[in-house]
Amino acid sequence: MRAILVEKEGDPEHLTLGEHPDPTPAPDELLVDVHATALNRADTMQRRGNYPVPEGASAILGLEMAGVVAEAGAECAGWAAGDRVFGLLAGGGYAERTTIHHEEAMPIPEALSFEEAAAVPEVFLTAYQALHWLGELKRGERALVHAGASGVGTAAIQLAVEAGAEVLVTASAPKHDLCRELGARAAIDYRSEDFAARVKELTGGAGVDVILDFIGAPYFQKNIQSLRTDGRVIQLATLGGATVEEVSLRALMAKRVHLKATTLRSRAQGYKVRLSQEFAAYALPLFEEGTLRPVTDRVYDWDDAVEAHRRMEANENAGKLVLRVGGGM
Ligand SMILES: NC(=O)c1ccc[n+]([C@@H]2O[C@H](COP(=O)([O-])OP(=O)(O)OC[C@H]3O[C@@H](n4cnc5c(N)ncnc54)[C@H](OP(=O)(O)O)[C@@H]3O)[C@@H](O)[C@H]2O)c1
Repeated sequence: MRAILVEKEGDPEHLTLGEHPDPTPAPDELLVDVHATALNRADTMQRRGNYPVPEGASAILGLEMAGVVAEAGAECAGWAAGDRVFGLLAGGGYAERTTIHHEEAMPIPEALSFEEAAAVPEVFLTAYQALHWLGELKRGERALVHAGASGVGTAAIQLAVEAGAEVLVTASAPKHDLCRELGARAAIDYRSEDFAARVKELTGGAGVDVILDFIGAPYFQKNIQSLRTDGRVIQLATLGGATVEEVSLRALMAKRVHLKATTLRSRAQGYKVRLSQEFAAYALPLFEEGTLRPVTDRVYDWDDAVEAHRRMEANENAGKLVLRVGGGM
């Protein structure tokens, strides 16, 4: 099969379309003809050599895909060749064929194209897990979503609004309209405003119940300031830095802060199966009726993967960057 390969770790220029042996599905896996995949920061980090591939995962980039079942293994009840399928992968999305455990696979809602479906799994499952499982977000609560126009941010705004929460975001100013269209009550320009002061103002001094943070060290103190008592910070990334120089544990105790840090890719398969199945039952009808929507920044042919990686690393995208798989060369 053909796949996008990392010829040499480093800049996007080293991504190239080449040949790779086909994956061999286990009896409980589906073999899928991939029609589309989408970018994640993990791909750009892995391309640079900064993200080790988890044991047993494909070394090919790509944490999600949408396509058609080519073969369903003997233990894949409920699936048949020809079914439209999408889902989370531990790797291997940037390829003409991939495999997925049948219980992690989700049927593509009729309303979504392959390109739209490929924009869903990683960011929506991450946001669902962060808001509901880790953040325990409740109706009537407030959430602060940093990087509101990121892939995960755009999913989180929609899911939090659907859960009956009020959403505030931080993002660069040109991306504010998108965040508001998705349901955020207010967008804060983190470059020109002190977000903790703005949160205080916007919430009448109360603060927020749940924070999804991707920025890390530079936001740590301000996140604590922005929380209500019993608030939850879900740490998903460290785009701005990983080491916090000084932390007052008293400040955390005073607000009874819950700090949970997570990575989805390293989770056990059983966890991802439970997450995918709960998410599918909850969200697929909402995609079908248009209440939730994949937010796509651009769709590229896969031989333009270099350009797509550049755009992500330049922080230019608002929503997902999708690769149409197949064709070219
Ligand atoms: N832990 C997990 O389970 C998990 C799962 C999925 C993704 N992630 C992580 O979550 C993050 C978001 O992923 P994504 O795919 O949604 O990203 P994305 O679409 O590439 O968006 C990232 C956005 O973050 C903002 N940003 C970047 N650096 C920043 C900084 N230093 N300070 C403030 N804002 C900054 C930029 O938007 P502005 O224009 O607003 O600055 C940028 O466009 C990534 O780091 C990814 O690795 C974690």
